[in-house]
Amino acid sequence: MMDLMLDGKIVLVTGGASGIGRAAALRFAAEGARVIVCDRSAEMAEDAAATIRADGGEAQAIAADVSDAGSVDALMAAISDCFGGLDIALNNAGIGVPLQPIADVPDEDYDLLMSINLRGVWLCMRREIPLMLARGGGAIVNTSSALGLVSMPTSAAYVASKHGVIGLTKTAALEYSAKGIRVNAVCPGVIETPLTREATEDPDARPVMLGLHPIGRLGRAEEVADAMLWLASPRASFITGVALPVDGGWTAH
Ligand SMILES: NC(=O)c1ccc[n+]([C@@H]2O[C@H](COP(=O)([O-])OP(=O)(O)OC[C@H]3O[C@@H](n4cnc5c(N)ncnc54)[C@H](O)[C@@H]3O)[C@@H](O)[C@H]2O)c1
Repeated sequence: MMDLMLDGKIVLVTGGASGIGRAAALRFAAEGARVIVCDRSAEMAEDAAATIRADGGEAQAIAADVSDAGSVDALMAAISDCFGGLDIALNNAGIGVPLQPIADVPDEDYDLLMSINLRGVWLCMRREIPLMLARGGGAIVNTSSALGLVSMPTSAAYVASKHGVIGLTKTAALEYSAKGIRVNAVCPGVIETPLTREATEDPDARPVMLGLHPIGRLGRAEEVADAMLWLASPRASFITGVALPVDGGWTAH
């Protein structure tokens, strides 16, 4: 088995209590990383951290809302105090809103989605980078989406937010790679998590979603977590500024 050289690394996972983030938190901990599970749900974050500890890993839960600058600042201050810095950040927290054509999207839905999916990544990155620079480098993996690479009717705000995440990713890569911080994004296809459960369990919607993926099935959270693991690890040492599809071939169309 390849050593991913993650032993002892300090890893922050936002949205770490559920779905892709939770799978990633468990995977990094299994590789010996010291994991900070951040989520807006304190109870769910503590549940994920407790699961990791029960498996013999190291994890701490910290509740924060990534769309709130003060909350993100408090999160980063706590990380600095408790761990003395940060090696890896997975900026993964995200939401969806009801599907609507652009002219029908309520302002509140657009603003809420942007505040978490795009501004949240921005607020976290701008505080993570100094913590990583202080340690001589690090790695950031942002969670975009296949919908950061292609579009889909009725998902304008989500599509815009995930395209924006790739823009932030590429720009940060240009700015900080020479200083030792690699910045990449993953672009998952439809992954079976609580976020997509309603749609994936809908007998009309499921075949449409399956049809998007040439591989013939939907994805598992662990499959995205494995891509994050590798991208964040020193094994991907010459990779920065990429938006990696983890989408069963969807965006190869
Ligand atoms: N599931 C998919 O098909 C899929 C596909 C592409 C991209 N993504 C992206 O992957 C990421 C994770 O999605 P998931 O499917 O695991 O969803 P999920 O709903 O299972 O998990 C998301 C977690 O983020 C947390 N969260 C939401 N808003 C937050 C906030 N403001 N501050 C802190 N935490 C917050 C939630 O409490 C939840 O625990 C999201 O960015 C999503 O857009 C998911």
